[in-house]
Parts: sequence; structure tokens; C-alpha cells
Amino acid sequence: MTASSTNAGQKHFAELEIVPNAAVVGARVNCGSVTQLSDAGIDAIRQALLDHCVLVLPAQNITDPELIAFGKRIGELDFAPFTTTDKKREHEEIIIVSNVKEGGIPIGVLGDAEVNWHSDNSYRDAPLSYSLLHALECPTTQGETGFANMYMAYETLPADVRSRIKPFMIKHDLTYLSDGSLRRGYQHATDPILVPGPWHPVVRTHPASGYNALYLGRRRNAYICGLELAESEALLDMLWAHASQEKFTWHHSWTPGDILIWDNRCLMHHRNPFDPGRRRIMHRLQFRGERPCHDPRAANKGSHPRSGAAA
Ligand code: SIN
Repeated sequence: MTASSTNAGQKHFAELEIVPNAAVVGARVNCGSVTQLSDAGIDAIRQALLDHCVLVLPAQNITDPELIAFGKRIGELDFAPFTTTDKKREHEEIIIVSNVKEGGIPIGVLGDAEVNWHSDNSYRDAPLSYSLLHALECPTTQGETGFANMYMAYETLPADVRSRIKPFMIKHDLTYLSDGSLRRGYQHATDPILVPGPWHPVVRTHPASGYNALYLGRRRNAYICGLELAESEALLDMLWAHASQEKFTWHHSWTPGDILIWDNRCLMHHRNPFDPGRRRIMHRLQFRGERPCHDPRAANKGSHPRSGAAA
């Protein structure tokens, strides 16, 4: 599909338009129903994900089977083996993220509290590539979902810190969820050296874009392999303070019908808390990823376009 571009980085295709956010990350995709997109339209969305890391597709009033069919055209779906819900899933591909209870039983996960900065499923050997949320019911002024640009966080570290952390691996704790609750089947654990979880490189090369990004995953019980615990804690505190600075972030305010898709390999995300009296129901898809790795050739690649433009 041919596209025309404007100076502001907008791209116009026959069936859709990609409008970058003014912030450091993200773009809006204006199109009709995603159920009607051609293969070329899907390719344009996949390219826009690499270019902008997170996309909003507004006004998608579609059914769950239509959402699943759209997801399958974007990538290979994953079935969230570590996410347990009280309610049996109607579609194995969909996890409900919600504070709503039916008959006293939560219909989904993550409630109404703040969700701390994290990358989805970093506690797995092969974490998710993309995650997708489809807003069915939501407050429009609370429960915003935020994204932090990890290409930019990496590129703006001092050169001596970048070279110090390059060989390091972080352990990503499997014990706790990103809302701070204990994962079912796990015991409370506080010693980062002993908690279960895989090791991943601190500097992760994105397998499709080829750029390096900081890959922190989750703070609780994280540990940098081979360091004294106190040294690991101090370095992690410094990296987290750097990576979560507001200047690297953008928060999305939801409207029912929005679809948000983001790339966990170059972003962390966060959710603001919301009034427990308000109903929020999101249907979530997740996409199979790969084992994170660091490719030394990425050092010659320069800046990701979104980091360079906003630095
Ligand atoms: C999540 O961390 O996947 C939840 C984000 C949200 O509820 O907005």
C-alpha cells in the first residue's frame, strides 16, 4: 500500500491514517473497523508499532471473536499460563482486566489500584512481544495507562553507565503481580537472590527494530547477577529513577471502544488507580515473544527515531 507522509510524521494510506502523538511515544491510528482492514492495512499497523511503540485505535465496537481474529493477524497469540482468574475464561485468548465483581466474584484481574511500572510477563523465559487492551467500559478521567520509552531511557544514560550495564543480567521475579499481589501458587518472598524467575539482559536489542532498549521488567525482588545485593539495589534504584522520569512517558486517557496495542520489548507501562465505584472492563490479548537478547551490532545503529526526535 502506498503512503503519503507529512512533516509531522503523519502517514496517510487509502484505508487508514497514522498520527504520531506530540509526546515521546505513541500514535493514533484512524481507520474504520479493524475487522475490515486489508493485509496492507495490517502491515501498516505492524510497521507503525515498530515506529511508535504504542498505538491507539479508537471507536472499535467489535465482538470478542472479531478482536481475536484481528489479534491473530497482528501476531501469534499467547494464552497467559501464569494468569489465574476466578471466573472461567470464555475465550482462552482473552484475559479480563477489571474491578467488576459478579456475585462477589471478580470477573478479571488487577482491580482498581495503581499498577506499577513493568513490562508484561518479564518473569517468563520468553516474555510477551505485544499486549493489547480493548476498552468495553471505563471511566474517561481515571485509570489512565502510561507508557515509558525504554529506547530513550537507554540512549540518555551517561556513556559510562551504558558500558557498565551492557554485560549485566537481571533476575525478574515470578512471585508477585504488577498490582503488588501474590501470584497464586507462590509463597511470599523477599530475598531477591533466592526468588524464582528468569535472567534477562539489562540492555535488550529489539529483534525487529534492531535498536537497544533498557529492559528492567519489574522492580520488586529484582537482582543484578553477580553483584553484592546492596550494589545491585543501588544500581537498580538509579536505573528505575532514570527510566520512569516523566519526560520519557505518555499516559493514555481511555474512551470505551479504544484498542491500545503496545510493544513490551521497548516500553514499560503503568496504570493510574481509579475510583472503586466506577466500572472498568478491558479485554486483553497477549502476543508470543522471544527470549530477550543483546546484540552487540546494535551499538552501531544510532537512535530509535522516536527517541532521537524528542531528545
Ligand atoms: C496492565 O498492566 O496490563 C493493565 C493496564 C491497565 O489496566 O490499563
